[in-house]
Amino acid sequence: MHEVTFYPSKIKVTAEEGRNLLSLIREHGVDLASECGGTGTCGKCRVRLESATVIDGKGHPGPEGRQGRIRLACHCHVTEDIVVTIPESSQALIKVLDQGVRGRYLFGPPAVRRQNNGWRDGARFGVAVDIGTTTVVAALVDLASGQELSKKSARNPQQVYGLDVLNRARYAQTDQYGPLNLQRKVVAVINDLVAQACHEAGASRERIVDVCLSGNQFMLRFLRREDTSDLTVPPYEARSSASVSQAPSDLGLDMGEHGTAYSLPSASAFIGADIVAGLVAVDIDKWERPVLLIDIGTNGEMVLADKDGLCACSTAAGPAFEGVNISCGVSAINGAVEGVFLDNDERRLSLEVIGEAEPVGLCGTGLIDLVAELVKVGVIDRTGRYSAGAEGWVYGNDDYMGQLRQKGAQRSFVITDRRTSKDLFSLSQRDVREVQLAKAAIRAGMDLLLKERGLRQGDLHTVLIAGGFSHKLRPESLVQLGVLSSQLGDHVEVVGNTSLSGAYLALVSEKARERVETISKLIKTVNLSTHPEFERSFIENMRFPTS
Ligand code: FES
Repeated sequence: MHEVTFYPSKIKVTAEEGRNLLSLIREHGVDLASECGGTGTCGKCRVRLESATVIDGKGHPGPEGRQGRIRLACHCHVTEDIVVTIPESSQALIKVLDQGVRGRYLFGPPAVRRQNNGWRDGARFGVAVDIGTTTVVAALVDLASGQELSKKSARNPQQVYGLDVLNRARYAQTDQYGPLNLQRKVVAVINDLVAQACHEAGASRERIVDVCLSGNQFMLRFLRREDTSDLTVPPYEARSSASVSQAPSDLGLDMGEHGTAYSLPSASAFIGADIVAGLVAVDIDKWERPVLLIDIGTNGEMVLADKDGLCACSTAAGPAFEGVNISCGVSAINGAVEGVFLDNDERRLSLEVIGEAEPVGLCGTGLIDLVAELVKVGVIDRTGRYSAGAEGWVYGNDDYMGQLRQKGAQRSFVITDRRTSKDLFSLSQRDVREVQLAKAAIRAGMDLLLKERGLRQGDLHTVLIAGGFSHKLRPESLVQLGVLSSQLGDHVEVVGNTSLSGAYLALVSEKARERVETISKLIKTVNLSTHPEFERSFIENMRFPTS
């Protein structure tokens, strides 16, 4: 056995000879990004080996060369005692978006009716949980008043099994311990968040009598340790999308023994409880129709509410807009660029950086901004290619410069520290292609969903953008990319984490819970994977619009 020490966490563990370093890191909960789930394709699991000769790794992405110390953890195996440093840029800790709009519902928690089963007097609490693919948020609520007492969030630790749901589903379906490990990870983080919230609010976990859980179909199935094979093979029809009520202890949740854990219902395989909750949270009935709610995530779920009802689709946008599969993509960590502005008149560059740290890469909003701005100033042409004529253009401010350069086999837009001349990160031609694929899928989904009801984008009264994007998301960048048409730029509202808001409402209002159940059955789903026009629309939308 060998001793392995991780920095900066100072966690010391033992490992058998030949143990894969990434699997060791996963087992001990050390914070390390591993977006591809260890298949060696994302390049995000970089670690620094403080004594490189003792680990045999094939991954050598760092500037220190093949024999150097920066390696991909998923390629390394332990052969001696070793000290491993996880650089900040490889840590998966993120700024969590936990705010979302909340519609108005009459206060009246369903749990009140269960008082004879549990506590007859004293305080009773509820917990609303949003299990996102990337983050988990839990809100502790006083069920006597509806007041939110404390809210805690953390990254979803299932990320060690893959950043997107399909990698995790593959793990669940191919590893005999997969379902158990996925459940344990998410249950552990929920228990931890609830313990923190109770501690902060001075509440007893024993007095938690109701838990409302929201998330997409995969997340809720992983929580309940249920099979997901119906969600991953054609025709992608969910065996069941109904809500589930069970004892918290059945899931391993550490709460009052008389309580209930209620998983919100989904509408179909890819229109999950998070979207259903979102429709309740934004109070979809109050908006002048037609209105579109869209979650720009990996599956690009969207619901159109018009005079004929609710119609939804999901489109395989891929995780590019979350900074995944992008060479300079990072989560919303300190140093992530979340906003970019370019100006052709004075060749100005402005970067908005989380934590005002040295820029380390682009998170979702920064990526959308940078590509949109490069299209705006002509560094990227309509087809998505970097323009050869833009190679001499240098954008800058006092601290940073950005310019198009040949890097290896492809052109990249490189951001450099002006004082040290150090390259900080670069957006490659391949990254731009990933953004094109994502935006084309979303736009094609929107167009076909609207066409289903005889509508066009210009007919929409409002577009509500939900999900992990912060309020830094600029509608004009979505217009520049061609995700939204120019008529819609002034009709966009960023509504935040409506999945959590919907779970909260289902916790404090019986009416809202009834509405969740009703809405989940009213949504008609359009299957884009078999739609005859999807491919044509997708290809048409690969181009960027002219300004
Ligand atoms: S390259 Fe190692 S986890 Fe992706």
